[in-house]
Amino acid sequence: MMEIKRIFVVGAGLMGSGLAQTVAQSGLEVVLNDVTEEAAQKGFSRIQSSLEGRVAKGKMSEEEKDAALSHISCAGTLEKAATCQLVIEAAYENIGVKQAVYKSLDEICGPHTIYASNTSSISITSLASAVKHPENFIGMHFFSPVPVMKLLEITKGLRTSDETLQAVKAVGEKMNKVIIVSKDMPGFIVNRMLDPMINEAIEILDQGIGSVEDIDNGMKYGCNHPMGPLELVDMIGIDVHYSVMQVIHSELGESKYRPSPLLRKMVQAGLTGKKAKAGFYLYDDEGKKVSVNPIFAG
Ligand code: 3HC
Repeated sequence: MMEIKRIFVVGAGLMGSGLAQTVAQSGLEVVLNDVTEEAAQKGFSRIQSSLEGRVAKGKMSEEEKDAALSHISCAGTLEKAATCQLVIEAAYENIGVKQAVYKSLDEICGPHTIYASNTSSISITSLASAVKHPENFIGMHFFSPVPVMKLLEITKGLRTSDETLQAVKAVGEKMNKVIIVSKDMPGFIVNRMLDPMINEAIEILDQGIGSVEDIDNGMKYGCNHPMGPLELVDMIGIDVHYSVMQVIHSELGESKYRPSPLLRKMVQAGLTGKKAKAGFYLYDDEGKKVSVNPIFAG
């Protein structure tokens, strides 16, 4: 089995930077990539402040923070992927964007490089059709915030080899993740359950059945969720959730997966959640929740 020592992370956004932080904290080398050096450095700064927060809380020593940061380098191009045994792609949740990245990577990486998509819902088998060696292609689905959420959901494509599965399981274990393995179906295991629940919460709001806060408090205090579904989707990204629901609905067809009309309107209005400082709630520059969005104040 190929030993993975150095990982190339494509995408330095919320998921990609959290991924790179977790890989670095596990002692592996990681290259954090985005479309420009500046965007990659922005992801690195996010990691720096996250680790500084851990030090401030006494959860991590300065030395541990510095050691983790020393494992991370940034790249504004894909070239350094050639020096890595595993590429984890956390690019925009769109099959065309992702397949274009893989076609470029295939011109740079060797025949044994493993490609893993962090996709929330897109078929691993369909993504793998973009590469020369689909036996080396797999899904590694992490959960936000990646340094905190213990789960890693792995999905084999139709042609993924067992050697590839074992190699990425070993990485997941090194990252101290609890691993589940899903069949290659839209939404896999977790999002097939979670996203219709979030979609239903948005429908409940749209139909005036409950307020934003009552919907969230309903799940926080009735089901012990750490945060309600509307605050959660603000954190995930309302546009990300919309694309997941579109994939599940287009592939499974049943109306229960139809994206809520209010969900679509929010994406069209640019209300994509915490990253836009406005979703179901409003957020300040530090990402702290300020209030319910006045649009929904009732
Ligand atoms: N890096 C490192 N540690 C972090 C962190 C980060 N980015 N963010 C939070 N933490 C740590 C905090 O330091 C704290 O650790 P401590 O208890 O050791 O001090 C702990 O996590 C709790 O964080 P906070 O105290 O800041 O805040 P909360 O107690 O409100 O927890 C939360 C925040 C962890 C996000 C919690 O609300 C939660 O677990 N929410 C649910 C998240 C969830 O469901 N994620 C999955 C979404 S679905 C998904 O991602 C799939 C994809 O396909 C879309």
